[in-house]
Amino acid sequence: MKEIVPSPPPLVHNQFESVRELFSKNVVPSYGRFDLVFSHGAGSYLFDVAGKRYLDLGAGIAVCCLGHAHPAITEALAEQSRKLIHVSNLYFTEPQGRLAAELVNRIGAGKCFFANSGAEANEGLFKLARKFGHDEGRFEILTATNSFHGRTLAGIAATGQDKVKKGFEPMTPGFRHIPFNDLNAARNAISPATVAILMEGVQGEGGVTPATPEYLLGLRALCDEKKLLLFMDGVQCGHYRTGRFQSFQRILEGKNVAQASRLPGERVSASKNEISMSNLAARAGETPALLSFLPDGLSMAKSLGGGFPIGAFWVRAPYADLLGPGTHATTFGGTPLACAVALKVLEVIEREQLDEQVRKLGEWFKRELERLAATYPQVVKRARGLGFILGLELVEKEKIPAFAASNKTAALQFVNRLHEIGVLTIPAGTQIVRLLPPLNLKPQEAGEGIAKIEEVVKSLA
Ligand SMILES: Cc1ncc(COP(=O)(O)O)c(C=O)c1O
Repeated sequence: MKEIVPSPPPLVHNQFESVRELFSKNVVPSYGRFDLVFSHGAGSYLFDVAGKRYLDLGAGIAVCCLGHAHPAITEALAEQSRKLIHVSNLYFTEPQGRLAAELVNRIGAGKCFFANSGAEANEGLFKLARKFGHDEGRFEILTATNSFHGRTLAGIAATGQDKVKKGFEPMTPGFRHIPFNDLNAARNAISPATVAILMEGVQGEGGVTPATPEYLLGLRALCDEKKLLLFMDGVQCGHYRTGRFQSFQRILEGKNVAQASRLPGERVSASKNEISMSNLAARAGETPALLSFLPDGLSMAKSLGGGFPIGAFWVRAPYADLLGPGTHATTFGGTPLACAVALKVLEVIEREQLDEQVRKLGEWFKRELERLAATYPQVVKRARGLGFILGLELVEKEKIPAFAASNKTAALQFVNRLHEIGVLTIPAGTQIVRLLPPLNLKPQEAGEGIAKIEEVVKSLA
Protein backbone atom coordinates (compact mmCIF):
# COMPACT_ATOMS: atom_id res chain seq x y z
CA MET A 1 0.00 0.00 0.00
CA LYS A 2 1.21 3.47 -0.87
CA GLU A 3 2.32 5.37 2.22
CA ILE A 4 0.11 8.40 2.76
CA VAL A 5 1.81 9.79 5.84
CA PRO A 6 5.41 10.77 5.05
CA SER A 7 8.10 9.04 7.14
CA PRO A 8 9.54 11.16 9.94
CA PRO A 9 12.99 12.65 9.29
CA PRO A 10 15.77 10.00 9.59
CA LEU A 11 17.21 11.47 12.79
CA VAL A 12 13.87 11.26 14.62
CA HIS A 13 13.19 7.84 13.18
CA ASN A 14 16.54 6.69 14.59
CA GLN A 15 15.67 8.14 17.98
CA PHE A 16 12.44 6.14 18.05
CA GLU A 17 14.24 2.97 17.01
CA SER A 18 17.16 3.53 19.36
CA VAL A 19 14.90 4.07 22.39
CA ARG A 20 12.99 0.92 21.55
CA GLU A 21 16.24 -0.97 21.19
CA LEU A 22 17.45 0.26 24.58
CA PHE A 23 14.25 -1.14 26.05
CA SER A 24 14.34 -4.46 24.24
CA LYS A 25 17.93 -5.05 25.34
CA ASN A 26 17.83 -3.67 28.86
CA VAL A 27 14.35 -3.29 30.32
CA VAL A 28 12.39 -6.24 31.76
CA PRO A 29 9.52 -6.72 29.30
CA SER A 30 6.80 -6.89 31.98
CA TYR A 31 4.72 -4.13 30.39
CA GLY A 32 2.67 -4.34 27.21
CA ARG A 33 3.71 -0.95 25.80
CA PHE A 34 2.23 1.00 22.92
CA ASP A 35 4.56 1.91 20.07
CA LEU A 36 4.93 5.51 21.19
CA VAL A 37 8.03 7.29 22.48
CA PHE A 38 7.36 10.58 24.23
CA SER A 39 9.85 13.36 24.68
CA HIS A 40 7.97 16.13 26.46
CA GLY A 41 4.60 17.49 27.47
CA ALA A 42 2.81 20.78 28.08
CA GLY A 43 -0.55 21.03 29.83
CA SER A 44 -2.96 18.44 28.44
CA TYR A 45 -0.68 17.56 25.52
CA LEU A 46 2.23 15.16 25.05
CA PHE A 47 4.69 15.21 22.16
CA ASP A 48 6.42 12.16 20.74
CA VAL A 49 10.00 12.13 19.48
CA ALA A 50 8.75 12.82 15.96
CA GLY A 51 7.03 15.99 17.20
CA LYS A 52 3.49 14.62 16.88
CA ARG A 53 1.08 16.08 19.44
CA TYR A 54 -1.35 13.97 21.47
CA LEU A 55 -4.21 15.13 23.65
CA ASP A 56 -3.58 13.21 26.86
CA LEU A 57 -6.88 11.92 28.22
CA GLY A 58 -5.08 9.27 30.28
CA ALA A 59 -2.82 11.56 32.34
CA GLY A 60 -0.29 8.81 33.05
CA ILE A 61 -3.09 6.58 34.41
CA ALA A 62 -4.72 9.20 36.62
CA VAL A 63 -1.44 10.64 37.87
CA CYS A 64 -0.74 13.93 36.06
CA CYS A 65 -3.73 15.72 37.59
CA LEU A 66 -2.35 19.14 36.66
CA GLY A 67 -1.26 18.01 33.20
CA HIS A 68 2.37 18.05 32.08
CA ALA A 69 5.13 20.47 33.01
CA HIS A 70 2.88 22.50 35.30
CA PRO A 71 4.96 25.52 36.42
CA ALA A 72 3.77 25.24 40.04
CA ILE A 73 5.06 21.64 40.27
CA THR A 74 8.34 22.56 38.60
CA GLU A 75 8.75 25.47 41.00
CA ALA A 76 7.90 23.35 44.09
CA LEU A 77 10.41 20.70 42.99
CA ALA A 78 13.14 23.26 42.38
CA GLU A 79 12.49 25.23 45.57
CA GLN A 80 12.34 22.22 47.90
CA SER A 81 15.28 20.46 46.23
CA ARG A 82 17.43 23.51 46.94
CA LYS A 83 16.61 23.07 50.65
CA LEU A 84 16.21 19.36 51.43
CA ILE A 85 15.33 16.30 49.37
CA HIS A 86 15.60 13.47 51.87
CA VAL A 87 16.64 12.82 55.45
CA SER A 88 14.89 9.46 56.18
CA ASN A 89 12.15 8.83 58.71
CA LEU A 90 14.66 8.77 61.55
CA TYR A 91 13.92 12.48 61.79
CA PHE A 92 11.05 14.95 61.55
CA THR A 93 10.54 17.27 58.59
CA GLU A 94 7.93 19.99 58.25
CA PRO A 95 6.50 19.13 54.79
CA GLN A 96 5.51 15.60 55.88
CA GLY A 97 3.76 16.87 58.98
CA ARG A 98 1.97 19.59 57.01
CA LEU A 99 0.85 17.22 54.27
CA ALA A 100 -0.47 14.74 56.85
CA ALA A 101 -2.48 17.55 58.47
CA GLU A 102 -3.91 18.64 55.11
CA LEU A 103 -5.00 15.09 54.27
CA VAL A 104 -6.48 14.49 57.72
CA ASN A 105 -8.43 17.72 57.40
CA ARG A 106 -9.93 16.61 54.10
CA ILE A 107 -10.80 13.07 55.20
CA GLY A 108 -11.50 12.95 58.92
CA ALA A 109 -9.88 12.60 62.33
CA GLY A 110 -6.98 10.18 62.05
CA LYS A 111 -3.35 9.96 60.97
CA CYS A 112 -1.33 9.33 57.79
CA PHE A 113 1.57 7.10 56.81
CA PHE A 114 3.56 7.95 53.69
CA ALA A 115 4.82 5.49 51.11
CA ASN A 116 5.79 5.62 47.45
CA SER A 117 3.03 3.98 45.45
CA GLY A 118 -0.53 2.75 45.57
CA ALA A 119 0.46 -0.86 46.09
CA GLU A 120 2.62 0.14 49.02
CA ALA A 121 -0.17 2.25 50.50
CA ASN A 122 -2.48 -0.79 50.33
CA GLU A 123 0.24 -2.99 51.86
CA GLY A 124 0.16 -0.65 54.84
CA LEU A 125 -3.59 -1.12 55.18
CA PHE A 126 -3.16 -4.92 54.99
CA LYS A 127 -0.63 -4.77 57.82
CA LEU A 128 -2.92 -2.50 59.81
CA ALA A 129 -5.75 -5.03 59.44
CA ARG A 130 -3.50 -7.91 60.49
CA LYS A 131 -2.36 -6.00 63.56
CA PHE A 132 -5.97 -5.13 64.41
CA GLY A 133 -7.13 -8.73 64.23
CA HIS A 134 -3.96 -10.41 65.42
CA ASP A 135 -4.87 -11.29 68.98
CA GLU A 136 -8.20 -12.77 67.88
CA GLY A 137 -6.63 -14.73 65.04
CA ARG A 138 -8.48 -12.68 62.43
CA PHE A 139 -6.55 -11.83 59.28
CA GLU A 140 -8.81 -12.24 56.24
CA ILE A 141 -9.62 -9.26 54.01
CA LEU A 142 -12.57 -9.28 51.61
CA THR A 143 -12.13 -7.41 48.32
CA ALA A 144 -14.29 -7.17 45.20
CA THR A 145 -14.34 -9.18 42.02
CA ASN A 146 -12.78 -7.02 39.28
CA SER A 147 -11.00 -4.87 41.84
CA PHE A 148 -7.39 -3.75 41.45
CA HIS A 149 -5.09 -3.11 44.40
CA GLY A 150 -1.52 -3.28 43.07
CA ARG A 151 1.13 -5.68 41.85
CA THR A 152 3.01 -6.68 44.99
CA LEU A 153 2.44 -10.25 46.21
CA ALA A 154 -0.25 -9.14 48.65
CA GLY A 155 -1.57 -6.67 46.04
CA ILE A 156 -2.23 -9.40 43.48
CA ALA A 157 -3.77 -11.60 46.15
CA ALA A 158 -6.08 -8.69 47.05
CA THR A 159 -6.88 -7.91 43.41
CA GLY A 160 -10.06 -9.61 42.20
CA GLN A 161 -8.78 -10.43 38.72
CA ASP A 162 -7.25 -13.79 37.77
CA LYS A 163 -4.99 -12.33 35.10
CA VAL A 164 -2.73 -10.61 37.64
CA LYS A 165 -2.38 -13.78 39.75
CA LYS A 166 -1.57 -16.20 36.94
CA GLY A 167 1.92 -17.68 37.22
CA PHE A 168 2.55 -16.28 40.70
CA GLU A 169 0.73 -18.88 42.74
CA PRO A 170 0.53 -19.76 45.57
CA MET A 171 -1.21 -16.56 46.53
CA THR A 172 -0.48 -14.77 49.78
CA PRO A 173 -3.18 -16.11 52.10
CA GLY A 174 -5.89 -13.99 53.66
CA PHE A 175 -7.81 -12.51 50.74
CA ARG A 176 -11.21 -13.48 49.32
CA HIS A 177 -13.28 -11.80 46.63
CA ILE A 178 -16.94 -10.88 46.71
CA PRO A 179 -19.19 -9.45 43.96
CA PHE A 180 -19.04 -5.63 43.86
CA ASN A 181 -22.12 -3.65 44.91
CA ASP A 182 -23.72 -6.74 46.46
CA LEU A 183 -24.26 -6.23 50.17
CA ASN A 184 -25.76 -9.66 50.80
CA ALA A 185 -22.72 -11.30 49.24
CA ALA A 186 -20.51 -9.30 51.60
CA ARG A 187 -22.57 -10.35 54.63
CA ASN A 188 -22.58 -14.00 53.58
CA ALA A 189 -18.82 -14.04 52.93
CA ILE A 190 -17.79 -12.95 56.43
CA SER A 191 -16.09 -15.77 58.33
CA PRO A 192 -14.69 -15.90 61.87
CA ALA A 193 -11.29 -15.05 60.33
CA THR A 194 -12.49 -11.92 58.52
CA VAL A 195 -10.99 -8.68 59.77
CA ALA A 196 -11.54 -6.09 57.03
CA ILE A 197 -13.24 -5.18 53.76
CA LEU A 198 -11.38 -3.19 51.10
CA MET A 199 -13.23 -1.49 48.22
CA GLU A 200 -12.56 1.04 45.49
CA GLY A 201 -15.11 3.86 45.40
CA VAL A 202 -14.98 3.59 41.63
CA GLN A 203 -13.40 0.47 40.20
CA GLY A 204 -10.84 1.72 37.69
CA GLU A 205 -8.83 -1.08 36.12
CA GLY A 206 -11.84 -3.38 36.46
CA GLY A 207 -13.94 -1.27 34.07
CA VAL A 208 -14.97 2.09 35.62
CA THR A 209 -17.78 1.01 37.93
CA PRO A 210 -18.83 3.32 40.80
CA ALA A 211 -20.01 1.88 44.11
CA THR A 212 -23.62 2.72 44.90
CA PRO A 213 -24.33 4.93 47.95
CA GLU A 214 -26.44 2.14 49.47
CA TYR A 215 -23.51 -0.26 49.14
CA LEU A 216 -21.08 2.08 50.87
CA LEU A 217 -23.49 2.86 53.71
CA GLY A 218 -24.40 -0.81 53.97
CA LEU A 219 -20.75 -1.86 54.16
CA ARG A 220 -20.16 0.70 56.91
CA ALA A 221 -23.06 -0.69 58.92
CA LEU A 222 -21.95 -4.27 58.29
CA CYS A 223 -18.37 -3.54 59.34
CA ASP A 224 -19.60 -1.85 62.53
CA GLU A 225 -21.86 -4.78 63.31
CA LYS A 226 -19.18 -7.42 62.70
CA LYS A 227 -16.24 -5.40 64.10
CA LEU A 228 -14.45 -5.27 60.78
CA LEU A 229 -12.32 -2.45 59.42
CA LEU A 230 -13.68 -0.78 56.31
CA PHE A 231 -10.94 0.31 53.90
CA MET A 232 -11.35 2.36 50.74
CA ASP A 233 -8.78 2.26 47.93
CA GLY A 234 -8.70 5.83 46.64
CA VAL A 235 -5.54 5.37 44.61
CA GLN A 236 -7.13 5.89 41.19
CA CYS A 237 -10.50 7.48 41.92
CA GLY A 238 -9.35 9.79 44.73
CA HIS A 239 -7.81 13.26 44.84
CA TYR A 240 -10.73 15.15 43.29
CA ARG A 241 -11.03 12.85 40.26
CA THR A 242 -14.77 12.51 40.87
CA GLY A 243 -15.20 16.19 41.77
CA ARG A 244 -14.73 15.65 45.50
CA PHE A 245 -11.55 14.90 47.42
CA GLN A 246 -12.54 11.24 47.73
CA SER A 247 -15.00 9.33 45.58
CA PHE A 248 -17.06 8.16 48.57
CA GLN A 249 -17.69 11.82 49.44
CA ARG A 250 -19.03 12.40 45.93
CA ILE A 251 -21.04 9.18 45.85
CA LEU A 252 -22.71 9.95 49.18
CA GLU A 253 -23.67 13.51 48.34
CA GLY A 254 -27.34 14.14 48.89
CA LYS A 255 -27.96 10.87 50.68
CA ASN A 256 -30.25 10.80 53.67
CA VAL A 257 -28.85 10.45 57.16
CA ALA A 258 -31.36 7.68 57.87
CA GLN A 259 -29.28 5.51 55.58
CA ALA A 260 -26.12 6.22 57.52
CA SER A 261 -25.06 3.85 60.22
CA ARG A 262 -22.67 5.89 62.26
CA LEU A 263 -23.04 8.86 64.55
CA PRO A 264 -21.24 11.93 63.36
CA GLY A 265 -19.34 12.24 66.64
CA GLU A 266 -15.99 10.84 65.53
CA ARG A 267 -15.64 12.85 62.39
CA VAL A 268 -13.48 15.64 61.10
CA SER A 269 -11.53 17.50 63.72
CA ALA A 270 -12.37 21.12 64.38
CA SER A 271 -10.16 22.92 61.90
CA LYS A 272 -10.41 25.53 59.22
CA ASN A 273 -10.73 22.75 56.69
CA GLU A 274 -13.61 21.23 58.54
CA ILE A 275 -15.36 24.52 58.13
CA SER A 276 -14.53 24.64 54.46
CA MET A 277 -15.65 21.04 54.12
CA SER A 278 -19.00 21.81 55.68
CA ASN A 279 -19.29 24.85 53.44
CA LEU A 280 -18.67 22.62 50.49
CA ALA A 281 -21.29 20.25 51.85
CA ALA A 282 -23.78 23.05 52.27
CA ARG A 283 -23.01 24.33 48.78
CA ALA A 284 -23.74 20.98 47.25
CA GLY A 285 -26.92 20.67 49.32
CA GLU A 286 -25.65 17.64 51.15
CA THR A 287 -27.46 15.72 53.81
CA PRO A 288 -25.66 14.28 56.81
CA ALA A 289 -25.06 10.81 55.35
CA LEU A 290 -21.87 12.04 53.78
CA LEU A 291 -20.81 13.75 56.96
CA SER A 292 -21.42 10.62 59.00
CA PHE A 293 -19.67 8.13 56.73
CA LEU A 294 -16.01 7.47 57.20
CA PRO A 295 -13.97 4.45 56.30
CA ASP A 296 -11.40 3.19 58.81
CA GLY A 297 -8.55 3.35 56.33
CA LEU A 298 -7.95 4.94 52.94
CA SER A 299 -5.12 4.46 50.47
CA MET A 300 -3.92 7.22 48.15
CA ALA A 301 -1.23 7.64 45.48
CA LYS A 302 -1.27 8.58 41.76
CA SER A 303 -2.62 12.19 41.61
CA LEU A 304 -1.40 12.87 45.15
CA GLY A 305 1.99 13.89 43.73
CA GLY A 306 0.78 15.03 40.29
CA GLY A 307 3.50 12.85 38.72
CA PHE A 308 6.05 12.79 41.51
CA PRO A 309 5.90 9.37 43.21
CA ILE A 310 4.14 9.41 46.56
CA GLY A 311 1.61 7.12 48.22
CA ALA A 312 -0.10 7.36 51.58
CA PHE A 313 -2.67 5.75 53.77
CA TRP A 314 -4.93 7.48 56.25
CA VAL A 315 -6.25 5.60 59.28
CA ARG A 316 -9.21 6.69 61.38
CA ALA A 317 -8.50 8.02 64.86
CA PRO A 318 -9.40 4.95 66.99
CA TYR A 319 -6.85 2.85 65.08
CA ALA A 320 -4.31 5.56 64.29
CA ASP A 321 -1.69 4.32 66.76
CA LEU A 322 -2.00 0.59 66.03
CA LEU A 323 1.17 0.63 63.95
CA GLY A 324 3.58 1.75 66.67
CA PRO A 325 7.32 2.48 66.40
CA GLY A 326 9.21 -0.24 64.54
CA THR A 327 6.14 -1.95 63.05
CA HIS A 328 6.09 -0.37 59.59
CA ALA A 329 8.52 1.71 57.55
CA THR A 330 9.89 2.64 54.14
CA THR A 331 13.07 4.56 53.41
CA PHE A 332 11.60 7.01 50.91
CA GLY A 333 8.17 7.48 52.51
CA GLY A 334 7.14 11.13 52.79
CA THR A 335 10.38 12.80 51.76
CA PRO A 336 10.34 16.58 52.08
CA LEU A 337 10.53 16.76 48.28
CA ALA A 338 7.53 14.47 47.63
CA CYS A 339 5.48 16.17 50.34
CA ALA A 340 6.30 19.69 49.14
CA VAL A 341 5.08 18.73 45.66
CA ALA A 342 1.93 17.06 47.03
CA LEU A 343 1.16 20.18 49.10
CA LYS A 344 1.53 22.33 46.00
CA VAL A 345 -0.72 20.02 43.94
CA LEU A 346 -3.46 20.30 46.58
CA GLU A 347 -3.04 24.07 46.76
CA VAL A 348 -3.39 24.48 42.98
CA ILE A 349 -6.40 22.16 42.70
CA GLU A 350 -8.24 24.03 45.43
CA ARG A 351 -7.16 27.54 44.47
CA GLU A 352 -8.31 26.96 40.91
CA GLN A 353 -11.47 25.14 42.08
CA LEU A 354 -10.73 22.24 39.79
CA ASP A 355 -13.27 20.16 41.71
CA GLU A 356 -16.01 22.32 40.20
CA GLN A 357 -14.40 22.06 36.80
CA VAL A 358 -14.29 18.25 37.05
CA ARG A 359 -17.95 18.15 38.06
CA LYS A 360 -19.13 20.33 35.20
CA LEU A 361 -16.88 18.99 32.49
CA GLY A 362 -17.25 15.43 33.76
CA GLU A 363 -21.02 15.66 33.43
CA TRP A 364 -20.66 17.13 29.95
CA PHE A 365 -18.20 14.37 28.97
CA LYS A 366 -20.52 11.67 30.25
CA ARG A 367 -23.49 13.13 28.39
CA GLU A 368 -21.41 13.23 25.20
CA LEU A 369 -20.34 9.61 25.68
CA GLU A 370 -24.00 8.70 26.26
CA ARG A 371 -24.85 10.53 23.04
CA LEU A 372 -22.29 8.40 21.20
CA ALA A 373 -23.87 5.27 22.68
CA ALA A 374 -27.33 6.44 21.55
CA THR A 375 -26.15 7.48 18.08
CA TYR A 376 -23.87 4.53 17.33
CA PRO A 377 -25.31 1.55 19.25
CA GLN A 378 -23.60 -0.79 16.76
CA VAL A 379 -20.23 0.38 18.23
CA VAL A 380 -20.83 1.81 21.72
CA LYS A 381 -22.76 -0.02 24.40
CA ARG A 382 -22.82 2.58 27.16
CA ALA A 383 -21.00 5.36 29.00
CA ARG A 384 -19.64 4.66 32.47
CA GLY A 385 -18.10 6.52 35.37
CA LEU A 386 -18.21 9.69 37.43
CA GLY A 387 -16.38 13.03 37.11
CA PHE A 388 -13.07 12.49 35.35
CA ILE A 389 -12.95 8.71 35.65
CA LEU A 390 -15.00 7.72 32.65
CA GLY A 391 -15.40 4.76 30.36
CA LEU A 392 -16.74 4.20 26.88
CA GLU A 393 -17.97 0.63 26.78
CA LEU A 394 -17.75 -0.84 23.29
CA VAL A 395 -19.90 -3.66 21.99
CA GLU A 396 -18.29 -7.10 21.64
CA LYS A 397 -15.38 -7.22 19.23
CA GLU A 398 -17.16 -9.72 16.97
CA LYS A 399 -19.91 -7.16 16.35
CA ILE A 400 -17.49 -4.53 15.00
CA PRO A 401 -16.49 -5.74 11.51
CA ALA A 402 -13.23 -3.74 11.44
CA PHE A 403 -12.12 -5.31 14.76
CA ALA A 404 -13.46 -8.84 14.49
CA ALA A 405 -10.52 -10.46 12.71
CA SER A 406 -7.77 -9.13 14.97
CA ASN A 407 -6.59 -11.02 18.05
CA LYS A 408 -6.36 -7.69 19.92
CA THR A 409 -9.24 -6.69 22.17
CA ALA A 410 -11.78 -4.13 20.97
CA ALA A 411 -10.57 -1.66 23.62
CA LEU A 412 -6.96 -2.00 22.47
CA GLN A 413 -7.83 -1.55 18.81
CA PHE A 414 -9.95 1.51 19.61
CA VAL A 415 -7.16 3.05 21.68
CA ASN A 416 -4.72 2.41 18.81
CA ARG A 417 -7.01 4.19 16.36
CA LEU A 418 -7.15 7.17 18.69
CA HIS A 419 -3.34 7.21 18.77
CA GLU A 420 -3.33 7.60 15.02
CA ILE A 421 -5.33 10.81 15.30
CA GLY A 422 -3.47 12.12 18.34
CA VAL A 423 -5.46 11.16 21.45
CA LEU A 424 -4.32 9.06 24.41
CA THR A 425 -6.83 6.96 26.35
CA ILE A 426 -6.43 3.76 28.37
CA PRO A 427 -8.04 0.36 27.84
CA ALA A 428 -9.77 -1.25 30.83
CA GLY A 429 -10.70 -4.88 30.35
CA THR A 430 -11.51 -6.02 26.83
CA GLN A 431 -14.24 -3.55 25.88
CA ILE A 432 -13.80 -0.38 27.86
CA VAL A 433 -11.88 2.70 26.78
CA ARG A 434 -11.01 4.66 29.89
CA LEU A 435 -10.68 8.44 30.16
CA LEU A 436 -8.72 9.85 33.11
CA PRO A 437 -7.97 13.40 31.96
CA PRO A 438 -5.94 15.96 33.89
CA LEU A 439 -8.23 17.78 36.33
CA ASN A 440 -7.35 21.09 34.65
CA LEU A 441 -8.42 19.95 31.18
CA LYS A 442 -9.86 22.93 29.32
CA PRO A 443 -13.40 22.83 27.86
CA GLN A 444 -12.07 23.19 24.31
CA GLU A 445 -9.71 20.27 24.93
CA ALA A 446 -12.63 18.19 26.14
CA GLY A 447 -14.43 19.19 22.93
CA GLU A 448 -11.44 18.12 20.85
CA GLY A 449 -11.33 14.79 22.70
CA ILE A 450 -14.99 14.02 22.10
CA ALA A 451 -14.77 15.06 18.43
CA LYS A 452 -11.86 12.67 17.87
CA ILE A 453 -13.49 9.85 19.80
CA GLU A 454 -16.60 10.35 17.68
CA GLU A 455 -14.43 10.28 14.54
CA VAL A 456 -13.20 6.79 15.47
CA VAL A 457 -16.65 5.58 16.53
CA LYS A 458 -18.11 6.84 13.24
CA SER A 459 -15.42 5.11 11.21
CA LEU A 460 -16.40 1.81 12.85
CA ALA A 461 -20.17 2.22 12.52
C1 LIG B 1 -7.27 1.27 42.67
C2 LIG B 1 -5.79 1.04 42.60
N1 LIG B 1 -5.15 0.61 43.69
C3 LIG B 1 -3.83 0.39 43.68
C4 LIG B 1 -3.08 0.60 42.55
C5 LIG B 1 -1.62 0.35 42.56
O1 LIG B 1 -0.93 1.57 42.53
P1 LIG B 1 0.58 1.60 42.08
O2 LIG B 1 0.62 1.22 40.65
O3 LIG B 1 1.00 3.02 42.35
O4 LIG B 1 1.30 0.62 42.93
C6 LIG B 1 -3.71 1.04 41.38
C7 LIG B 1 -2.96 1.24 40.14
O5 LIG B 1 -3.48 1.35 39.06
C8 LIG B 1 -5.10 1.27 41.40
O6 LIG B 1 -5.77 1.68 40.32
